[in-house]
Amino acid sequence: TLYPEAYRICQQFAIDQNRMEEIIHRMTREMTMGLAKDTHPRATMKCFVTYVQDLPTGRERGNYLALDLGGTNFRVLLVNLESESTVHIDGQTYGISKSVMEGPGIKLFDFIAQCLSDFCKDHKLESANLPLGFTFSFPCKQVGIDNGTLVAWTKGFKSEGVVNKNVVELLRDAIARRGDLKVKVVAILNDTTGTLMSCAFHKPNCKIGMIVGTGSNACYVEKTSNVEMLPGYQTSQKPYMIINCEWGAFGDNGVLDFIRTRYDIEVDNFSINPKKQVYEKCISGMYMGELVRNIIVELMDKDVLFKGVKSKGLHERGKFETRFITEIESDEPGRFRNAAMVMDSLGIRTSNEKDLMCLRYICETVSTRSAKLAACGLVCLIRKMNVKDLSVGIDGSVYRFHPHYHRLLMENMNLLLNGTVRYELVLSEDGSGRGAALIAAVCARD
Ligand code: BG6
Ligand code: GLC
Repeated sequence: TLYPEAYRICQQFAIDQNRMEEIIHRMTREMTMGLAKDTHPRATMKCFVTYVQDLPTGRERGNYLALDLGGTNFRVLLVNLESESTVHIDGQTYGISKSVMEGPGIKLFDFIAQCLSDFCKDHKLESANLPLGFTFSFPCKQVGIDNGTLVAWTKGFKSEGVVNKNVVELLRDAIARRGDLKVKVVAILNDTTGTLMSCAFHKPNCKIGMIVGTGSNACYVEKTSNVEMLPGYQTSQKPYMIINCEWGAFGDNGVLDFIRTRYDIEVDNFSINPKKQVYEKCISGMYMGELVRNIIVELMDKDVLFKGVKSKGLHERGKFETRFITEIESDEPGRFRNAAMVMDSLGIRTSNEKDLMCLRYICETVSTRSAKLAACGLVCLIRKMNVKDLSVGIDGSVYRFHPHYHRLLMENMNLLLNGTVRYELVLSEDGSGRGAALIAAVCARD
């Protein structure tokens, strides 16, 4: 008893198994280009070398600082690796204003250094000279563990004068400008890498780290002998290298156009980075709510949904947050308590169950497609590694809070893998804290 018009729109988001296989096939091709020597100029997925070649042994110990920039929150963390079973994390979250996210780079790094300094003063660590791991969740070309050049901003950032700069240097300079703090910035890492490391601390067979949060991305364990862009890759002493795929950019050359809808194009047009991060925009939290909003608005304008109710609010971009999807899909089947509450908060007071059911169906459509696409990415990596047994560490607000995401991922992976691989999807605890500390610890060991 769904409105036929709503059904018609949602059908456009359906992806059957054949299309999923086609997506995997195309992603595999893009990865091959990304991994090639000097990275093929047309490669969308850059497959950056992370210079993380050792998984944690579980014996790492000590105190570390970590910075986490690029997710929902900016955080400073103090991590104490006390024993394999005891890790203390003490952290502080700082709000970043839009003017800092979109203003001059120097302002952004001064802000980061100031938060770090405030945190260290609170914890009496100004002169402790602790090793610091910088989780910087954006595409970076690395030439070493403590050297990463920002290739492009993604998600909500566009701070000027940072692209093409080594962000570790920008951070060290900002700390030096203050002159009130002694820390050693020893590593820069992507959030996916932190997530993989954090999971691997407990699960030695962890081979993938994935984020489905504000953005989406994954990293995986590649054989060093396949990493052509690493100087001396054939003679490297270390057998493995974590590769940061930057899969969010998959599709930027048009290879995903066959599954994109006009709602995707609409969301893209009004984003701060049009035509970039195509796959990410179909998957992650920064865009899911906006996709749902665009569908609702069309159905309202056609007088199908919420008939006779006027809401200016919903016509405003960004008004429908992704957490509303999580709330609406958390209603028990056949109940619409959260759905009605969400709509009420948006100025639409209704108890019309047909409308609320339709609303839920739209949310499910967008989250199901997101999970299907993420499942394609995971299967692509699993087949690439050709492993038969692994754990996948996952983090990010969508995976963490959406009530059905984990199940949707598994259903679709099972469909594609058809029992050939034993895998486990594990919520990774605090990749950017614990993961960053582990990498800092591994660096300090070398
Ligand atoms: C956090 C990690 O839990 O998840 C961050 O510690 C990561 O490093 C983040 O960036 C991603 O999720 P979101 O939803 O905050 O973008
Ligand atoms: C974006 C970033 C990527 C990050 C992901 C998840 O895709 O480019 O580096 O891992 O978001 O936060």
